[in-house]
Amino acid sequence: KTRVIIDTDPGQDDAVAILLALASPEIEVLALTVVAGNVPLAHTVRNAQKICELAGRPDLPIYAGCDAPLFRPLTTAEYVHGETGLDGIELPAPTMPLAQGHAVDFIIDTLRREPEGSITLVPIGPLTNIAAAFQRAPDIIPRVRQIVLMGGAYFEVGNVTPAAEFNIYVDPEAAQIVFDAGVDLVVMPLDVTHRALTSQDWLDRMAAIDTPVARAVVSWTGFFERYDRAKYGAEGAPLHDPCTIAWLIRPGLFSGRRINVEIETEGRYTLGMTVADWWGVTDRAPNALFMRDVDRAGFFDLLTERLARL
Ligand code: BDR
Ligand code: CA
Repeated sequence: KTRVIIDTDPGQDDAVAILLALASPEIEVLALTVVAGNVPLAHTVRNAQKICELAGRPDLPIYAGCDAPLFRPLTTAEYVHGETGLDGIELPAPTMPLAQGHAVDFIIDTLRREPEGSITLVPIGPLTNIAAAFQRAPDIIPRVRQIVLMGGAYFEVGNVTPAAEFNIYVDPEAAQIVFDAGVDLVVMPLDVTHRALTSQDWLDRMAAIDTPVARAVVSWTGFFERYDRAKYGAEGAPLHDPCTIAWLIRPGLFSGRRINVEIETEGRYTLGMTVADWWGVTDRAPNALFMRDVDRAGFFDLLTERLARL
């Protein structure tokens, strides 16, 4: 079993990633650590609670984390995700309690307590919580098994500025800390996630499952899709964040290269860019497995099969 902490800013696609993890016997979710990103922290925390309750997992610990990036004001994306961050379907007001304590303390304490190399971090929002933990407790860095994150772009460049992807752009200094940490790093950039596009056929298959989870996924996808349709003429909604969990379950669905990736923290036009040395034109050491493609049909078959279990 892969034991994971999912660090998240839900977000409709975050929700699908969390549900995929909870539905998959290969993955043990220790907790959700929540960060501000798509919407402010009060909303992302509440959304995490709603998702766990929808999945029938009110027992799962949810820790609230950082409400703003390390050194910058928060940039949000209501224009993509809606005012709540989880627009598309009205879910009941959550009643499950939050775990006591701060997400950053939980990450530090867990990595110190659990056997070295046994915990995988799955950040699917801005990297603030992870970077704050690494800064405060550098001793935990070599104890991390792997980081599998959604963020960045190379061939697809940006979705929030011409050069930058949202998760990296929101907290570029945090991203730099994480990419420089020397941890085994797997990156799912827009290059992959813009190929993990929902289709009408898949939505029909989900709708046919007709459970509360399946209905929520269809409604979220419908809401989430409208932005990419209008903006990029996309034929579906990009399920960015579930690519991380899918890779942990079926790595063979994805392909990429081990390369050097640096984070731009100063550029006038390129703040938050993932400068990916795809062609090996520098002698900078590789620090990430930077993914490039996904077997779209295989990815959606996996999602359908797993989400039907909830
Ligand atoms: C990323 O930003 C958010 O909008 C999504 O949840 C995803 O994590 C895509 O750029
Ligand atoms: Ca996200």
